[in-house]
Amino acid sequence: MINVQIKPDIYWVGAVDWPMRDFHGYVTPRGSTYNNYLIMDEQVTLLDAVRRENIAESMERISRLTDLGEIKNIIVNHIELDHSGGLDVIVNNAPHATIYCTGKGRKGLLRMFKEAEGWNFKTVKSGDTLGIGKRTLTFLETPMIHWPDSMMTYIAQDKLLISQDAFGQHLATSERFDDEFIKCENWAELKDSVWEYYANILMPLGALIKRKIEELQALGLPIDMIAPDHGVIWRKDPEWIMQEYLDMANGKAEERVVIIYDTMWHSTENMTHAISEGLQAEGMDTRVLKLRSTPTSVAIKEFWQARGCLIGSPTINNTIMPAVGEFMVYLEGLRPKNRITGAFGSYGWGGGAVKKLNEWTTKMGLKTVEPGLQSNYHRGKEDEEACFEFGRDFALKLREYHKQFPF
Ligand code: FEO
Repeated sequence: MINVQIKPDIYWVGAVDWPMRDFHGYVTPRGSTYNNYLIMDEQVTLLDAVRRENIAESMERISRLTDLGEIKNIIVNHIELDHSGGLDVIVNNAPHATIYCTGKGRKGLLRMFKEAEGWNFKTVKSGDTLGIGKRTLTFLETPMIHWPDSMMTYIAQDKLLISQDAFGQHLATSERFDDEFIKCENWAELKDSVWEYYANILMPLGALIKRKIEELQALGLPIDMIAPDHGVIWRKDPEWIMQEYLDMANGKAEERVVIIYDTMWHSTENMTHAISEGLQAEGMDTRVLKLRSTPTSVAIKEFWQARGCLIGSPTINNTIMPAVGEFMVYLEGLRPKNRITGAFGSYGWGGGAVKKLNEWTTKMGLKTVEPGLQSNYHRGKEDEEACFEFGRDFALKLREYHKQFPF
């Protein structure tokens, strides 16, 4: 088992979850990591635990550096169970450790672990510090990024920000750093993972993220490494990930339209072909995703990366297909902003799906290009022209709208 030193005397002691494929519904085809860090200073300090199922791996890494009983401080930056699930096991082995977390963190841990009533807690606020020897840790509360308890820990002597979930990615890899990953794999995959993670976890929190990053930048703290609790550590270009988060919070997207649909007897699916041709005729980058063949978390990422989305569903029982409903419920909860949508779909004896989709995206506050397009049984070529023109028109309106309201 390898211990990775990320800074002098600071070690990654986490776990790589290669088989993880379903992270509370977020499909993770490349697994994930739970990163935690051990500082071998005068006071041995552990930052975060890992998921309970993976705690043995983390403890084995720690025990190669020190006896667990030597841990004096445990910093809990975030109490969600992928980071605190194994905390009680650690505390049992480090019974004299003091646990530093926010007030909300303490409250949550007391509900999660009965034995936490006997733990030695010290609650902290933004700006509080903890000297551990050669280093001083500074705590920065980040409430609702992405839980009420969340905070980050900054270590000035190492120019290191331990950022908990923020800036993470669900990627199980043998590489611990961004530059290693890019060398072994590729940049596009890393960027895609960043966007997927942001879209599925952080999309509703754009305004908070923007404020917190600006606050961090205003403090002028030198940062040359950002170590999140998932995925690779940013040492090559920590400024890039911070700027990318700011840009996403400000509504950055590709000039692209993603067509997201489900179909019953292929009529709505056939509509997507001509719509996509129409979009492409206007030079629009286009992607087409069938929902029943695509995990919802991937569809959400594709939605978030594109400036425009056309959502297609045939009418069933006067409403939309269940797979489209699942996507819409998930999307609504993520409170998307700064995206342009339209709706289309086939129907037999009575429509309804397009109206329902338009009402839903309007209610979400998304720019909705109405009335959308309905096609009765979609009689192949006869209806293709309307679909083609619908695609072209959507591309033109998207550009027009973006000119008026750049984001
Ligand atoms: Fe990775 Fe919010 O837990």
